[in-house]
Amino acid sequence: MKVEVLGSSAGGGLPQWNCRCENCRLARQGDESVVPRTQSSVAVSPDGRDWVLLNASPDLRDQVNAFLPFHDVEGSRGTRVRSVVLTDAEVDHAGGLLLMREAGRLDVFTTPAVREHLTKHWTLLPALESFLDLQHRSLRVDVSGPSVGLFDGRLHMDTFSVSGTPPSYSVRSATPGDTVGLEIRDADTDRTFVYVPGLGEVTDALQARLRGASLVMVDGTFWSDDELAAVDPSAPDARDMGHMPMSGPDGTLRILETLPEAQAVYVHINNTNPVLRRDSTPRDRVESAGVTVARDGMEFAV
Ligand code: MLT
Ligand code: MN
Ligand code: ZN
Repeated sequence: MKVEVLGSSAGGGLPQWNCRCENCRLARQGDESVVPRTQSSVAVSPDGRDWVLLNASPDLRDQVNAFLPFHDVEGSRGTRVRSVVLTDAEVDHAGGLLLMREAGRLDVFTTPAVREHLTKHWTLLPALESFLDLQHRSLRVDVSGPSVGLFDGRLHMDTFSVSGTPPSYSVRSATPGDTVGLEIRDADTDRTFVYVPGLGEVTDALQARLRGASLVMVDGTFWSDDELAAVDPSAPDARDMGHMPMSGPDGTLRILETLPEAQAVYVHINNTNPVLRRDSTPRDRVESAGVTVARDGMEFAV
């Protein structure tokens, strides 16, 4: 299985259009210590030919144009992107679906909770349906059952619920399936890739999944709990936004540095996060722990 990081930043990207935090200023100036990043999405393929997108970011157009394997098709129209899986209904993960409206047909995998957000509270899926043949594929969470087969069974995908918050545009209270992680197994090698770009709490069950994986990509939104409040005093803490910070005794770095087998990578990194600066102490801490800070265009083989 191949995994391509299309976008490694959280919502807003780096630099974010209206932000003058230190990272955004440096990235805008072209300072080499902070590399610009697009919003959160990865692509997965069993063979490097056919691909599924995990999340569709508002930067999808640039991401797709930059990744040549998607364009290895016969004829004047078409793509190697066969489907999209959403891990939540946030703008940064779903907004790019509207940029795929010329597809003709698109398979979109959602949990019932995500589909409800994108049908009742933000009518993105009905809007998309007016442009193309939208095949709704259901992701079940927290029920044991057969995995979803992708690419004629060459990949198997399990979905699991993680702690998160419903999107701020939605009126209903939190429910399981608002935010999910994915475990994708290669049928040939039996190796797994675990993708959890939003993560409010690290449970024992999640740790067990991470331990069994060859590659994990985990929520790297914030280094510290109060990081966003430093640039936006009205902002809530990281945990209240459904993002466990990297640092601290219960932070995600303590978990990722103990994984025996897995290559661990932070994705969905917010533009305020000091790990984005190549010369920062937090970046040094992460890299000394053997964990990778993702950049757009990184490729992994599982
Ligand atoms: C999140 O990950 O918490 C959301 O995408 C925040 C946002 O950009 O609205
Ligand atoms: Mn997000
Ligand atoms: Zn910023």
